[in-house]
Amino acid sequence: MEPIERFLKACRREPVDRPPVWLMRQAGRYMASYQEVRKRVSFMELCRSPELVSEVSRMPLEQLGVDACIVFSDILVPLEALGRRFALEQGGPSIDPPVRSADELDEASIEAVPDRIGFVYDGIRRLRRDLDDATPLLGFVGSPWTLASYLVEGGSSRHHHTLKRWSYVDPDGLERLLERLSRVTAAHMRAQIEAGCDAIQLFDTWGGLLDADRWRRFSGRYSARALEHVADTGVPRIHYLLGGAHLLEEMAELPCEVLSVDWRVPLGEVRRRVGDRHALQGNLDPAALCTPGEVVVEETRRMLEEYGDQPGLVANLGHGVTPDASVDSARAFVDAVKRFGPEGTSP
Ligand code: CP3
Repeated sequence: MEPIERFLKACRREPVDRPPVWLMRQAGRYMASYQEVRKRVSFMELCRSPELVSEVSRMPLEQLGVDACIVFSDILVPLEALGRRFALEQGGPSIDPPVRSADELDEASIEAVPDRIGFVYDGIRRLRRDLDDATPLLGFVGSPWTLASYLVEGGSSRHHHTLKRWSYVDPDGLERLLERLSRVTAAHMRAQIEAGCDAIQLFDTWGGLLDADRWRRFSGRYSARALEHVADTGVPRIHYLLGGAHLLEEMAELPCEVLSVDWRVPLGEVRRRVGDRHALQGNLDPAALCTPGEVVVEETRRMLEEYGDQPGLVANLGHGVTPDASVDSARAFVDAVKRFGPEGTSP
């Protein structure tokens, strides 16, 4: 079975020869070949070059043998197009100046986002040429709530208190900002699909900070709007949530085909709680990629057995690959999924 057929069928919960496998943040600093490129160019120079985007995005296909390619970019790229200075220092991203009122994002700048980040779509078109037709190409976006976190905090944050305070003292004002960001997310998703992506993943990395009521109000609702905006394309939509064990039943209401979950809840329990409407993606602890290959193989076997012999699994990590991961252990994960055969049954 070709990787594209395996991947698309798994997303639709149709039977496949074995689960497709790829890794969130599969191209990155844990790869020496990526570090070589980054010695020559800055992160944004890399993101702006379709040639380099294609080269870096394809590294995990060659080095790990994954079933899918994800375009190299970042969820924060559209924020720069909103007129903010975006930089990536050693300590993480910074957005300057941070946004403190919805009115700071005017209509004209929201509508101009896709035009200003045309380099992402050029990278996708370039990849479509450089990849064979058998390899699925994934695009991605940040959820409105997760984008708001970076935009309002001005970068990474430990407690996200500026954003959370806003959600308590001026919820209507924050909702206006989230509504505007949902249009950015929706337009960026659509443009990636039109440029040639076969599936799209929405990262709600900071949704888990909220209780169920507030998640529905400030995150799920705006992600759902963006996801609905691309429903007519027929392209599988993957929703990722970090730390969402308390939100599984809420996630099951989202208009998407695949729910991507972290390692905190075993896949069998996730399946019981979300029902049968979605495929599941996950959920090996990324920390396992810092252990020897035997441990990775054992943990991967455990994960596949936990899911059991039913269609609708896309094997992945529960969060992105970290810089201290080992390429050999990442390859051991991919090989183990391939070896353990049809839908999670042991050989
Ligand atoms: O999966 C892939 O291979 C595609 C590339 C990708 C990157 N970022 C490249 C990147 C993807 C899918 C992302 C998503 C992303 N970016 C998320 C959602 C997923 C998650 O991890 O929760 C978030 C929250 C970000 C924001 C971001 N980008 C942060 C906080 C940082 C700095 C800290 C860190 O993890 O490095 C980045 C930078 C970044 N994005 C790097 C890469 C490879 C490292 C930049 C470098 O080369 O120095």
